Amino acid sequence: MRVIVGVSGGIAAYKACEVIRRFKELGHSVRVIPTPSALKFVGAATFEALSGEPVSSTVWERVDEVAHVALGQGADLIVVAPATANTISRFAQGSADDLLTSTLLVTRAPILLAPAMHTEMWENASTQENIATLKRRGIHVLEPAHGRLTGSDSGVGRLPEPSQIVERALSLVLPQDLAGMAFMVTAGGTRERIDPVRYVGNNSSGKQGIAIARAAAARGATVTLIAANVESNLLVSLDPKIQIHRVINADEMNSTVWGAAVHMDVVIMAAAVADFRPKSVSQSKIKKNSADGLTIEFESNVDILASLCTGRSQLKVGALLVGFAAETGDERTPLELAKEKIQRKPVDLLILNDVSGGQVFGEDSNQATLIFGPDGKKSVEIERTSKDTLAHVVLDHLKERLT
Ligand code: CTP
Repeated sequence: MRVIVGVSGGIAAYKACEVIRRFKELGHSVRVIPTPSALKFVGAATFEALSGEPVSSTVWERVDEVAHVALGQGADLIVVAPATANTISRFAQGSADDLLTSTLLVTRAPILLAPAMHTEMWENASTQENIATLKRRGIHVLEPAHGRLTGSDSGVGRLPEPSQIVERALSLVLPQDLAGMAFMVTAGGTRERIDPVRYVGNNSSGKQGIAIARAAAARGATVTLIAANVESNLLVSLDPKIQIHRVINADEMNSTVWGAAVHMDVVIMAAAVADFRPKSVSQSKIKKNSADGLTIEFESNVDILASLCTGRSQLKVGALLVGFAAETGDERTPLELAKEKIQRKPVDLLILNDVSGGQVFGEDSNQATLIFGPDGKKSVEIERTSKDTLAHVVLDHLKERLT
């Protein structure tokens, strides 16, 4: 696919490099069109090296190629990241005073804007009216994230993560091969309270589950995401069609999952659910007044995935169940342990992550073995790749089983 990445002049321009790299890794050709002020932040040489194509900001170079028309006509997808208040304003007014705005006026391809600016500029009535005008004209806009801005201030206006920008942009052109399907995905890690200030938690960031939710929504599925203690910035720029439920502990996750599972075609349990919870929760902060340390008694949480397996008759006919197995191995290998797990929890697909040495948690890439149920005899190894790519591979396998 031919992608144009427009870059306008804000401090977040350096993040466009990562957006370009990701599109290239996914096999797309990329042409970068920076505004003249974007080149004050990142040099043309960087964009040329990353994209492997010439870079220009003005309509007065390569005039014989009529670039201000040809680029927009040849594009399959245009992403502007970051889109500054000024570029948004020029686009809303129909200006064509540089190569980027000319291209935006010419193209018939879908356009995604990823605005980034200071909170005051984003919330200003002019910017909001320009955004509303562009949305009315069919331009797609990714909501900016909350967080640290240029300087010491923080607020709404940060450019979302490059992976979110790329995934959302691709969703505008991906085949809608999961349309009509209902997916539920759990993500993150549950927290089991000990006292008002402490809990037992785990290392799961929720990135892999969220990548699957995003990918399924991008391919047309209706998606319910049950997020346990996931960082807000991972959720803020998601496709608004994804229905998000936030939960804290395993008990809440269990009731939320079962509340929706009966309507689902696919349930993917990517969350790390605590197996145990403290038997009693102290109502006041536990003090360190004992010299003997502290003993906490735990009781078992319900195994949600196991309960879905035994309760299959309550689910839709043909519904698929997917589990994750995070294994370090002991005297047995992670693969042997996962094959035992699929006997205990007879899911349709078990995704094995080797987490020995703490790999996987919080990273943007993942390596996995897909083990197919009910017997676990067939398995496919997926080499280390981005969590987004792995999400699409998992969905490809599930789609084969759904049809
Ligand atoms: N899971 C769940 N409910 C739990 C624990 C786990 O639904 N109380 C799900 C996870 O979401 C994951 C799968 O079960 O999809 C595997 O979880 P894991 O903790 O790796 O395995 P366990 O079943 O807990 O087995 P073990 O402790 O022996 O590794």
